[in-house]
Amino acid sequence: MTIGVTGATGQLGRLVIGKLKAKAPAENIVALVRTPAKAADLGVQVREADYNKPGTLEQALPGIERLLLISSSEVGRRIAQHGNVIDAAKKAGVKHMAYTSLLHADTSALTRLAEEHGPTEAKLKASGILFTILRNGWYTENYLGFVPAAAASGALLGCAGEGKIASAPRADYAEAAVVVLTTPGHENKTYELAGDQAYTLGELAAEISRQTGKTVVYKNLPESDYAAALAGFGLPAAVAQLIANSNTKAGQGALFDGGRQLSKLIGRPTTPLSAVVAEALKA
Ligand SMILES: NC(=O)c1ccc[n+]([C@@H]2O[C@H](COP(=O)([O-])OP(=O)(O)OC[C@H]3O[C@@H](n4cnc5c(N)ncnc54)[C@H](OP(=O)(O)O)[C@@H]3O)[C@@H](O)[C@H]2O)c1
Repeated sequence: MTIGVTGATGQLGRLVIGKLKAKAPAENIVALVRTPAKAADLGVQVREADYNKPGTLEQALPGIERLLLISSSEVGRRIAQHGNVIDAAKKAGVKHMAYTSLLHADTSALTRLAEEHGPTEAKLKASGILFTILRNGWYTENYLGFVPAAAASGALLGCAGEGKIASAPRADYAEAAVVVLTTPGHENKTYELAGDQAYTLGELAAEISRQTGKTVVYKNLPESDYAAALAGFGLPAAVAQLIANSNTKAGQGALFDGGRQLSKLIGRPTTPLSAVVAEALKA
């Protein structure tokens, strides 16, 4: 059985390829990437597959039986991009396709993100291809970049109030994708994937304090001030606004899920916040 992974040179994609290699022969794994030169170190077959170039997708997908479509990072262009992949997969006779969506994509308050994932899910379901929707929650890593700065300054910034965040590191979501690609029983299912342990940003600050021995407090800012702070860290203004808005929605519960479907799928508890913070402080 040949398994293809799009976006294989991305952070999640690299983890998926690494974990797939432990489960399937490398010659049966195809990294589908927009820049093949970046994939030389993956140690599997590499084919060019650019979401914006349907011709590359039509050439790359024949022979692939199971396909993981990792959602594009080009926010705003994704409905058409993902649609191109689904059309090409249908043409190529892909039997089973998994897609990395967003937690609670059908009801999520993260409207700017959900408005692209919803139509992709609908198109995949209507395609006739066996599907698995992996509705991934937030990556714990989304907060890690700020851990050293928080430890140094004594303040962790955010605008999520008391919102509980059930995140998990990319590696846990990658493992879930590999389970779906390599074991039976996931056809036509939608999984809500989130970390077992939910925390507030205040609790994240407390964890940084505990591990560093320095006092770190959580400072809850108005959304616009937090966006400005993120821009001050060098993020492009549009990205800073999207993250700040997602944080506000997290304060209203948008990043919480208590169903524990991720740990059930991977057969172990999700990686705890303390382990991810320890990793960030080591870096
Ligand atoms: N759950 C969360 O917290 C969270 C956070 C951020 C993003 N996401 C979503 O999850 C996805 C995977 O996360 P990640 O951390 O692996 O993101 P990432 O490191 O930015 O990887 C994104 C991947 O998408 C590929 N890509 C972008 N445009 C493409 C195109 N036109 N054709 C083909 N491939 C294209 C990139 O290719 P290159 O390697 O060539 O750049 C890269 O491999 C993201 O793309 C985004 O949709 C989720």
